[in-house]
Amino acid sequence: MNVPFVSFRPMEKELDTDLRAAFERVYNASWYIEGKEDEAFEEAFARFCDSSCCVGVGNGLDALMLALKALGIGSGDEVIVPSNTYIATALAVTYVGAVPVFVEPDIRTYNIDPTKIEEKITERTKAIMPVHLYGQPCDMDPIMEIARKYGLFVVEDCAQAHGATYKGKVIGSFGDAAGFSFYPGKNLGALGDAGATVTNNKELADKVRALGNYGSDYKYHHIYQGNNSRLDEMQAAFLAAKLPHLGRMNEERRRIAKRYLEGINNPCIILPYVPDYAVPVWHIFAVRTDRRDELAGYLAEKGISTNKHYPIPMHLQDCYKELNIPRGALPIAEEISATELSLPMFYGMTEEQIDYVIECVNAFGAGKEDNMNSEKYDSIFMSVFDVEKDVLGDDFTFKAVDKWDSFLHLTLISELEDGFDVLFDSEDILNFGGYSNGKKILAKYGVDFGE
Ligand SMILES: Cc1ncc(COP(=O)(O)O)c(C=O)c1O
Repeated sequence: MNVPFVSFRPMEKELDTDLRAAFERVYNASWYIEGKEDEAFEEAFARFCDSSCCVGVGNGLDALMLALKALGIGSGDEVIVPSNTYIATALAVTYVGAVPVFVEPDIRTYNIDPTKIEEKITERTKAIMPVHLYGQPCDMDPIMEIARKYGLFVVEDCAQAHGATYKGKVIGSFGDAAGFSFYPGKNLGALGDAGATVTNNKELADKVRALGNYGSDYKYHHIYQGNNSRLDEMQAAFLAAKLPHLGRMNEERRRIAKRYLEGINNPCIILPYVPDYAVPVWHIFAVRTDRRDELAGYLAEKGISTNKHYPIPMHLQDCYKELNIPRGALPIAEEISATELSLPMFYGMTEEQIDYVIECVNAFGAGKEDNMNSEKYDSIFMSVFDVEKDVLGDDFTFKAVDKWDSFLHLTLISELEDGFDVLFDSEDILNFGGYSNGKKILAKYGVDFGE
């Protein structure tokens, strides 16, 4: 059986008539930018977000960037962002000329850890950008409290979490502004690029609208050096056709997530954790395992597509070399990027597909587990950074099984008398959690891993 990572087909089939009608309406009106469709969608989406204003823009990155710009954030300013997110969050900050200051996530929720924010605040800090990653709301109460205490703006990155709630309140309605993406794969996706900034501040909304329209408040009158980033009529009409179904489609994702959470019981896989305050919308179903690439390969062989969100953390991306943040400085983000795997999750997954994913994930590693129990196994997969062969010496042979950037995924094989012998006991394997623990394990075996 083949299970794609995502498929729009079930949704498209169901909404076929509505989407075609939306196309015809715009085409027949022959009006494509700044019109009734945009206005109607903005009104409906603001209501959905329990907010008074929504400004349609070209994409989610612009929604964030224009919000920051409208708040007056720019050169010399610092903005707190989570170290584990899609790069667009940081790009919005650097586009306006400010500096992203990364704060580590909570390893259980993958979202920014509010207890680590205050230590990163300086006199240049202007805003906090919580990201409701993978569809799971951030812990907003302590974030808002810190923002109030230090007089900081809060711009929520809601690109992955349309409709998720925190303590019963919908995300996007907490901060000064929120940025949404309607990239096709999002829970509410257009049939192309689109986005929106949502706020309860009319003045701010007007400024975002002007900034996205060449800085113009009325035709040929330019008060800002703006951009061109507007939600076009066609995408607005498609989004308006899909919005009434979003609640139901999010509910279906919750049902699939529940099936996964109840059905997956493989001991080498860490399932997502949902705090009491959160009702997520499961944009992504993220599991973690130290054998991530092995699991991805295994599932691919079984016809199941997966994804990694995200394989290289932002601070190690070439484009952010100038920030001078060394490898190891943000260990939780690095750990997540080395261990996270996203399972198929989309509206319209069949029961057979859900069952098959659960069955294959549970079957993964069964053979190796037997070997572990018998205390004889030939290889252990682990992620280590920049391992030089000479660090471990001649007792080990190395087999690179995957490589990206300078991360090496290695099979460590200890060569003892008759072929292979046990290198780590099974307790080590179960406790093994990536780079930092890997270092501890190696230290236990007398290997100085170094920095
Ligand atoms: C967390 C996050 N923020 C921002 C964006 C940017 O959205 P867009 O692709 O519409 O520009 C994305 C999109 O993938 C995202 O996942």
